[in-house]
Amino acid sequence: MKVLLIGGNGFIGSHLADKLLAEGHYVRIFDVSYERYRIQLPNVDYRISPIQSIPDLYESMLGIDIVFHLASASVPSTSGIDVVNEVNQNLISTLSILDLAVKLKVKKFVYFSSGGAVYGIPETSPISEDHHIRPISSYGIIKSTIENYLSFYQRTYGLNTLILRPSNPYGPRQGHFLAQGVISTFLRNLKTGNSFTVYGDGTATKDYIFISDLVNICYNISIGDHTGVYNIGSGIGTSIKEIISIIEAVTDKKANVIFAESKNYDVSNFILDITKISKDQLAKPEYSLEKGISKVWNWVLETESIH
Ligand SMILES: NC(=O)c1ccc[n+]([C@@H]2O[C@H](COP(=O)([O-])OP(=O)(O)OC[C@H]3O[C@@H](n4cnc5c(N)ncnc54)[C@H](O)[C@@H]3O)[C@@H](O)[C@H]2O)c1
Repeated sequence: MKVLLIGGNGFIGSHLADKLLAEGHYVRIFDVSYERYRIQLPNVDYRISPIQSIPDLYESMLGIDIVFHLASASVPSTSGIDVVNEVNQNLISTLSILDLAVKLKVKKFVYFSSGGAVYGIPETSPISEDHHIRPISSYGIIKSTIENYLSFYQRTYGLNTLILRPSNPYGPRQGHFLAQGVISTFLRNLKTGNSFTVYGDGTATKDYIFISDLVNICYNISIGDHTGVYNIGSGIGTSIKEIISIIEAVTDKKANVIFAESKNYDVSNFILDITKISKDQLAKPEYSLEKGISKVWNWVLETESIH
């Protein structure tokens, strides 16, 4: 297959590129910048440009079978600061990408939405794909609006679409600045001797999944005939307090933790229902938190500066 990863030089995209290359696919990456932590990969066809550049996007989509859209100019913590800019950067650009995908007869369009942001405050736990969608952050509102447009493009123009809703992935190459990821931030702070700030009392549970588990599942769903919406998580809730004690055990270091008021954009408790991926016999998460965290710790130790 000929695959285009838009936003493919980020955390998830770089691991997905590794998987696609290992499985023998042709990989083209469209991103505004190169990867932060690795040099360019010899077998990737890079296109460095912003998604706002329609001619460059058009050219990058020529001859492509599957488009993965991973580019996002915001994360929950920065969303809501400049809503108009966020809509322009994420929503409007995505509509242009969808128009091109229809025009160029792309066989499948895979969108990375968010399992943590689109549902809002959960009414049931674990949260299945048909749970109500009532996002509480601008990030989540834009993700769910894009999901609605994907259904619209599927119905109106016959574009084959797949929506992935990842929970909280963690792993090597997860950045720190503007990144979504407490585990890499905590490990980096532990290495540099800085404290960690925990928002809330540390009992809120989230659903963490190691990056290679996430990528294997995404790969199997996307390359197969699947369409529609899939939650991708571990299906297990772990509190920040538990994460800290695993981190202390793995690193053999004592964490200096500061507790602060919880943040209003954050859904504090969520666990994804992963029955659908299990039922469709897609790959199962295999990494325990201990094993995954120790992989990230090794990466943090060997990486000079994580930004
Ligand atoms: N990491 C998580 O915890 C998580 C959880 C759920 C969903 N997601 C979603 O998955 C997707 C990938 O996440 P990630 O963690 O790899 O993010 P990331 O920030 O590491 O990667 C995003 C990539 O998009 C590129 N990009 C941003 N704006 C661009 C633009 N205007 N033009 C071209 N490229 C642009 C960036 O340069 C970056 O390489 C995002 O859509 C994110 O919202 C992430």
